[in-house]
Amino acid sequence: MVEQTQAGTTGDSDYDAVGGGPAIASVVELFYRNVLADPELSGYFANSDLTKLKRHQVQLVSQVMGGPVTYEGQALADAHKGRGITGGDFGRVVVHLVGALEAHQVPDDIIGRVVKALGATQGDIVTAS
Ligand code: HEM
Repeated sequence: MVEQTQAGTTGDSDYDAVGGGPAIASVVELFYRNVLADPELSGYFANSDLTKLKRHQVQLVSQVMGGPVTYEGQALADAHKGRGITGGDFGRVVVHLVGALEAHQVPDDIIGRVVKALGATQGDIVTAS
């Protein structure tokens, strides 16, 4: 079996470049470990089903990286409404996400694209000042 290596075919997405599902699952594990260890953020997740949350976050990150995965969670505005999340909270979450990607040696250009895509959700998530 010869591997397909031609550019422009499957195998050149950011999802594939970082190592696919297992790598993204590992990034998401570290991301939530650090979010839950952050005293400014942990309280928001006190009543959350972390298994479901992580599964949906893996799907979302995989999807924005061009992977063959579809996000099956709630609309982000619905998932975050009524939680009083501030712009400062949002910034801290993004810092933890970038930290988890960097810890997995994800290249800066890919991190930039992930932050751009997920950063664009701020208006759906931040409801307090
Ligand atoms: C880049 C920014 C963010 C993204 C991409 C994001 C993404 C997500 C996703 C995909 C879910 C799962 C929804 C579901 O299971 O249906 C979720 C849930 C949740 N998010 Fe975020 N989120 C972000 C920022 C934040 C911030 C800043 C906070 C608060 C500090 C927060 C608090 C929560 C909580 C508490 C839940 C759990 C909801 C539940 O228990 O069902 N998120 N988020």
